[in-house]
Amino acid sequence: MILSGLLVSAVGVAAQATPPSPPTAQGLHSLFVAAGKLYWGTAIETNNFNDSAYLAIANNRNEFGMYVPENSQKWEEIQPALTDFEFTNPDAVLARARANGQMFRCHTLTWHSQLPAFVANGTWTRDTLAAVIVAHITNVMTHYRGLCYAWDVVNEALNDNGTFRNSVFFRTLGTDFIPLSFAAASRADPSARLYYNDFNLETSPRKAAAAVRIVQLVQAANIPIHGLGFQAHFRVGQTPNRTSLIATQNLFTTLGLEVAFSELDIAHLSLPPNSTSIQRQSDDYVTVVSACLAVPKCVGITLWQFTDKYSWIPSTFPGLGDACLYTSNFTKKPAYSAVSSFLQSVVATAAPAQGTGRFANGTGSKTVTPMVVAAPATATGVMTLPADIAGELAPFVTSPPVRTSAGAVVIVGKGKGVLVGVVVMVGALLL
Ligand code: XIL
Repeated sequence: MILSGLLVSAVGVAAQATPPSPPTAQGLHSLFVAAGKLYWGTAIETNNFNDSAYLAIANNRNEFGMYVPENSQKWEEIQPALTDFEFTNPDAVLARARANGQMFRCHTLTWHSQLPAFVANGTWTRDTLAAVIVAHITNVMTHYRGLCYAWDVVNEALNDNGTFRNSVFFRTLGTDFIPLSFAAASRADPSARLYYNDFNLETSPRKAAAAVRIVQLVQAANIPIHGLGFQAHFRVGQTPNRTSLIATQNLFTTLGLEVAFSELDIAHLSLPPNSTSIQRQSDDYVTVVSACLAVPKCVGITLWQFTDKYSWIPSTFPGLGDACLYTSNFTKKPAYSAVSSFLQSVVATAAPAQGTGRFANGTGSKTVTPMVVAAPATATGVMTLPADIAGELAPFVTSPPVRTSAGAVVIVGKGKGVLVGVVVMVGALLL
């Protein structure tokens, strides 16, 4: 949500003078935050909720600082018929994230796959399909307004050769469905980061160039687009190297976007994996983590499930598997240990971490792109923050944020009682 992005920049400035002690918790989220990132997350779904061994890990905020519903926000599930919206399952995922003090990432709005029949098989004109897209986005995003850190607004619009996918959206509206979707998303929830999300951008230069043109298309229309999600469904031994992962991220950060690895898993090509493959999987996971750390605007990594027990890989790609960081029995794999050790070494050798939680900032210099906000704030005065956010902010600020009549949010930071900065951010803070 907008709150986290804006406040990270404030804390970064305020806490520079006297960093608190590094965190002691060693979960991957805690470590990733200590290394300067916003979150380490996982896909999760309500059908996982009756598995207590699974939940014992998923509910641990030191391990996961963010949830994304794996399927329940997709069009066929959330709007199976024109007048039927089903929010029960994604609401349950959100409720668990909130109970755990985790962020919520939302997935996905305009996508050719997992569409309800009424959309996939409908007879459409430009106007009628545009109206249905806008109605879908408006209804779904309004339901989650202010609650999603980010939305994958458009997913997988491209073929691997860089041409547009022959979806019902492209056939009917050409590329207009893309700015149309982002515009509707921006109107429905101005506080959410709006992402384009796709795969194989790291391995297909033509696809990456086409994704750059998608971003430019939206930007040229003066419509907000904030992020690029790299799905990162990789294969052991075929994971792009660190240099190409960094270069691909930078294609988009130079356009002013933040980036994220949004669906990470790294599948073995044959099962059971031999010791060479197991080592290689560890190396590949560390490569991705290292590539995110190397790019300041890489905000986080989301695992597409953390245990092989619930991974989508074996059923979708028969013969492949064991792609996650935990076995089906919830044992941590060598790849988990490799990522954990790598992050611990990064945290130990980098500048001291500045606290724990989503506002921690390993360098004290994180800059966050200002959000585009549609309307000025109406409320003024001292802002009441959710308890978990207020708790995390407390070491860094002298008093709660104050919203001025001009719509600015003023935060006064402190370092061991010494006032070190006043940060004024223009824009409404929507809670
Ligand atoms: C997958 C889910 O993991 C499966 O459970 C489902 O059957 C198919 O979709 N790209 C995406 C994700 O953006 O939504 C997909 O998730 C994986 C590929």
